[in-house]
Amino acid sequence: MAVEIKTQNALDRFVTKARDLFASEPDLEERWAKLSPIMAELLADSEVIEASTTWPNTVVDETRVHGRAENLLFYEDPDYGFVVSGLKKLPERSGNTTRVHDHGRIWTLYGVLDGRERMERYERTDDRSKPDYAEIRRSVNTVVGPGEIDLVKPFEIHTEVTIGEATIALIIRSEKPGEANQGRYNTETFAYSESHGPRQTPVEMFPRT
Ligand SMILES: [Fe+2]
Repeated sequence: MAVEIKTQNALDRFVTKARDLFASEPDLEERWAKLSPIMAELLADSEVIEASTTWPNTVVDETRVHGRAENLLFYEDPDYGFVVSGLKKLPERSGNTTRVHDHGRIWTLYGVLDGRERMERYERTDDRSKPDYAEIRRSVNTVVGPGEIDLVKPFEIHTEVTIGEATIALIIRSEKPGEANQGRYNTETFAYSESHGPRQTPVEMFPRT
């Protein structure tokens, strides 16, 4: 009797489907909308959820000028450039917010794997006449939990705020951050600046035991 050997994990399956989609759907709005249910399968996979307990915690390196957050880098596509990353935040950072920012030209799907956090969106309210100034107003303030996916389009202003729970998230981006600048927004002074995106540290999604 033939023994079925499982050779593909959930990340392999995600990559295969994502590559098919990138090859067949040139419209970026359509492509990223269609990628969301494919990411949902990755978020719901029991092996991914189990493996995530072994991933290292990610940190914000406050010694850097802008405090670049660290991401776990699980996959970078050699042809289409999209990347699969992870974030694992400790509960003691409660109240600390990832600074309000955009992702520049990058398209992003942010999906929660474990825990809950607050997701805030902002809209720009000034006339964009000054290069280092951006008035913004909070337009969305909602709590998200496991399985929920947020599509962040280029230059959309947002932040995630920890609410006393450890959280683990997966992030799909159209390209590796660092190649492109992202905007930083001060919600009190409305100062605007640009800096590199989160530092990416290569890690195995499924550590070998
Ligand atoms: Fe972000």
